[in-house]
Amino acid sequence: MQRAVTSRAQVNLPEQRWRELDRAMESLAEGYLEIAWQGAIFTFWTNEAGPEPMLILDQNGDSVYWHYGHERLDNRHLLVFGASGSGKTYGIQCLLTEMAVQGLRSLIIDYTDGFLPGQVESRFTEVAQPASHYVASAGLPLNPFRRQQQIIDPNVPPLEENPYQVGSRVASIFNSVYETMGDQQFATLVRAIENGISADAGFSLNQLLERLQDEGQYGLSLANKLEPFIKAQPFREGENSAWDAMLAADEHWVQVLQLKGCGREVQKLVTEFALWDLYDYACTTGSKKRPIPVVLDEIQNLDHRSDSPLDKMLREGRKFGLSLILATQTTSNFNQEQRDRLFQAGHKLFFRPADTEIERFAALLAQVTRDSKSDWSQRLARLEKGQCWSLGPVETSAGKLQTKPVLVSVTALEERAFGIA
Ligand SMILES: Nc1ncnc2c1ncn2[C@@H]1O[C@H](COP(=O)(O)OP(=O)(O)OP(=O)(O)O)[C@@H](O)[C@H]1O
Ligand SMILES: [Mg+2]
Repeated sequence: MQRAVTSRAQVNLPEQRWRELDRAMESLAEGYLEIAWQGAIFTFWTNEAGPEPMLILDQNGDSVYWHYGHERLDNRHLLVFGASGSGKTYGIQCLLTEMAVQGLRSLIIDYTDGFLPGQVESRFTEVAQPASHYVASAGLPLNPFRRQQQIIDPNVPPLEENPYQVGSRVASIFNSVYETMGDQQFATLVRAIENGISADAGFSLNQLLERLQDEGQYGLSLANKLEPFIKAQPFREGENSAWDAMLAADEHWVQVLQLKGCGREVQKLVTEFALWDLYDYACTTGSKKRPIPVVLDEIQNLDHRSDSPLDKMLREGRKFGLSLILATQTTSNFNQEQRDRLFQAGHKLFFRPADTEIERFAALLAQVTRDSKSDWSQRLARLEKGQCWSLGPVETSAGKLQTKPVLVSVTALEERAFGIA
């Protein structure tokens, strides 16, 4: 079965039931089905084609695709490298528009201002109809202290986090942004959250601030650190996540969480909280047959430690349909482990790097291809705006996928047909 159309947004089932339903659906063969499930009727058109390969280049020569729907694909993550102005964001808009045309909805968490309505290409707006959600003015409908589900074994019901685990996870998010937080402060923060959630299921960020202020010296200095974030009121209290509604929005194929107007630290924190919540949403309701493309531009500014949401999404997201589209100008801030993890992405696009990055990228490409580092240095240096080397699976005449470097000139949005007038 390639794709199931459900009226998920209108039916109120516990998350565990959704998982059961998804699993049942995945085991079915192709065909047209109508299923009665707990009193609700679902109609599935399972003979619909699945997500098709994404078009990166057409017109000038052989088409080059991101084989998004191919069953042999290792994962659906795409990594986009390149200097400022090399064409990364433009290329991503092309892909999201291609996805929109094929009925695939995507999410962008934008802390770069690159996807503001006034910044994006008009053809992208016209076809993908992006919907903006301004966190600074409206807040994000997300409860930062929600207990998340932990899947130990897919055949066993997920375990819910206990208050200590929530406390540790949330404290670690703050720690990733406020790097000067010491061990004592970290422990105080975990304890304040743990006790807060245990005492009140509706525990809020404002209550956390009050609790910290009563926790002596470490608590007070922590409260001072966290205050700008909490006072910015980034979340709408008492609300749970809105991913379901976003991923089913009529006509709007791209949903943008706009972080413009939030301070840099607030942007980072909101992004990490949103990624955790999204990861949990995907773990509990996602399926590998239903892709959830998530765009993060300029990822050098995010948390890449082990057990950060980005790490989890890269390693395990595939099982739940999570498909990351990540862009960065540099890899110099990443350590070897983080770089290796990023390079697990099934498809990579190398736009023209900054001069200081050419050697590094050339070495990477030389490692995975037959050509020498000096060949790659020259090739990378010669790239023009909108051109890139695609390193990803190419379909062979036998229908297999083989990873190969291909030179791509990203077709301009105006030149793409998109199957519409
Ligand atoms: N394939 C293309 N076809 C036509 N124009 C392009 C193409 N790629 C890039 N451009 C033009 O170049 C400009 C810069 O590209 P883009 O914004 O994608 O750079 P970037 O790599 O995202 O840079 P930064 O890291 O600074 O965000 C775009 O606004 C667009 O006008
Ligand atoms: Mg950009």
